[in-house]
Amino acid sequence: NQRVAILISGRGSNMMALVEQARGYEVVLVASDKPEAAGLVWARERGLATFSLSPKGIGKAAYEAQLDAALRKAEVGTIALAGYMRLISDDFVARWRGRIVNIHPSLLPLYKGLDTHARAIAAGDEHAGCSVHVVTEELDGGAVLGQSRVAVLQDDDAETLAARVLSAEHALYPRILSEFVMTPIDRIRETGLSLPETEERPSDG
Ligand code: GAR
Repeated sequence: NQRVAILISGRGSNMMALVEQARGYEVVLVASDKPEAAGLVWARERGLATFSLSPKGIGKAAYEAQLDAALRKAEVGTIALAGYMRLISDDFVARWRGRIVNIHPSLLPLYKGLDTHARAIAAGDEHAGCSVHVVTEELDGGAVLGQSRVAVLQDDDAETLAARVLSAEHALYPRILSEFVMTPIDRIRETGLSLPETEERPSDG
């Protein structure tokens, strides 16, 4: 199983979905830039290791250095951002290149950044949704690994749409993270396909 850390800033409902639907990975650390994040309480109650540190007062570089140390100490292989509302420095991205994923509440490349639901409604979009993507230096710009679409309803406001998209997030993120961490051999086992029998070959000598 791949060792995964989840970074949160608040409620942590996506983190909970990732923990509860873990397959092919193990959540070994829940970390937050907000020591008062509600999700941390849930994680501690579940007996999960947590790390929390505010960058306030110590600065971004020192904060990220300590976060990085905690991740390495926990022997983390993949970092899953789940409602982590802080920009990650280019340095940090480089140190974890290709091993950080994020969930974003829009159908990327549409609506990068904040207020995605209000923007989708204002544009008159028929569909909204969520995307899981690889994190790069470009905000919400890395390769999309998977998406879910939900209908925008006539009476939707940003809040009702956000709730519908959030349910879709909880189903999408664990599925995509499992696929992301699984090696081809894991995937073959998972789907129950049998590997071709290898023929016994007479050994030399
Ligand atoms: C989720 O909707 C997530 O997609 C979004 O914040 C919410 C966090 O909820 N993330 C972003 O907007 C990232 N820019 P949660 O804490 O309950 O998972």
